[in-house]
Amino acid sequence: MSRALANPGLISLAAGFVDQNTLPVGPTQTVLQELMADDAAARTALQYGTTPGYPPLRDALLDMAMQADPGRSISRDQVVVTAGSNQLLHLVAETLLNPDDIVLCASPTYLVFLGTAANLGARTFGVETDNAGMIPAALEDSLRRLQQAGELPRVKAVYLVPYFDNPTGASLTVERRRQIVEIANRWSLETRIHVIADEAYRELRYTVDDTPGVRSFDEDGETVIVAGTFSKSFSPGVRIGWGILPPHLAEPVCAAKGNIDFGSPNLCQHLMARVLDGGLYQPHVATVRAGYHEKLNAMLAAASEHLQPLPGVSWLEPAGGLYVWLTLPEDMNAGAGGELFDTAIEEGVLYVPGEHCFSKEGQPAQHHTIRLSFGVQSPAGIEKGIAALARAIARCSVAVP
Ligand SMILES: Cc1ncc(COP(=O)(O)O)c(C=O)c1O
Repeated sequence: MSRALANPGLISLAAGFVDQNTLPVGPTQTVLQELMADDAAARTALQYGTTPGYPPLRDALLDMAMQADPGRSISRDQVVVTAGSNQLLHLVAETLLNPDDIVLCASPTYLVFLGTAANLGARTFGVETDNAGMIPAALEDSLRRLQQAGELPRVKAVYLVPYFDNPTGASLTVERRRQIVEIANRWSLETRIHVIADEAYRELRYTVDDTPGVRSFDEDGETVIVAGTFSKSFSPGVRIGWGILPPHLAEPVCAAKGNIDFGSPNLCQHLMARVLDGGLYQPHVATVRAGYHEKLNAMLAAASEHLQPLPGVSWLEPAGGLYVWLTLPEDMNAGAGGELFDTAIEEGVLYVPGEHCFSKEGQPAQHHTIRLSFGVQSPAGIEKGIAALARAIARCSVAVP
């Protein structure tokens, strides 16, 4: 961030911000005007709310969750509204994890969650992935290794971003979702191993249909925690996230939240409830999808043109989300301390070094990886940024013997 601020001409393909141009100014204006025109409703919205959230919004989230993953029914008590899904992840981590407890994560994974766990003194253990997400056999293997080391009782959760992962863009296949819940249940020998399904990008699909969520495979409803958010599909400024929790976790998570804020910003919850109730959400999501689809195509086309000719450079083609994951020749260090990062800045582009997205234990960090985001730049900016990155890689390839 500081490098970008110091170099205003730099094209940032780094931050996972959302597109400035598709932010929902119109729908927000409409519902806020309606809300403020109704004196009683306005006064309620401008007052404190309740810890688990505004009941009509929780009901709407419940309906959305049941429509997305019909089957086992859930109750309003299991739905908690949070200030973004990061808060939900934090509350869940705080509830489940004691110092030295272990969370098994895809390798690589969402770097903020790694920080959340580390802040609590917990350990993250990377499990091998391929272009279809976490590999169930590798998860089983990791559990076996931890059992042999006498550490199985410390394993409290598996953390997944099943749709269009941050950072890799990969989606976990439906069969793997089923297998991972089954493995977590089978290995819950001394303590329950929960599965945290972070669905931040579920709505951001461009070339595929929706698929059954991890919660669909939770037969007793006690294993899977879903984290959702309107940040990517509507607005991060409104910052409303939520959790669908197993019944036994609803009370402790709300107790933790009560000690922090006794309820997320009430006005934003009333706003989102009206957006959903007024049928303004889905049309907005359609606009957002169309915009990002065009940007993804721009990034993939630029990658084919500028990166394809470079030996040893490859990338995953995501069907949604905001990220493209790039792998470079193994001897090239794309990390913040390596030559490529500075060369890329000289050429005019900023990226996130992939090395930040790896757990401390389990799989080793891959220093020859890069996370690119196509969320913020225009298609022309994306093309320019990828061309600059290609020049930087070519310059550093010359330097590598
Ligand atoms: C995988 C993942 N989970 C959660 C979040 C948090 O989003 P928010 O707290 O805005 O809901 C992000 C944001 O980038 C993300 O990439």
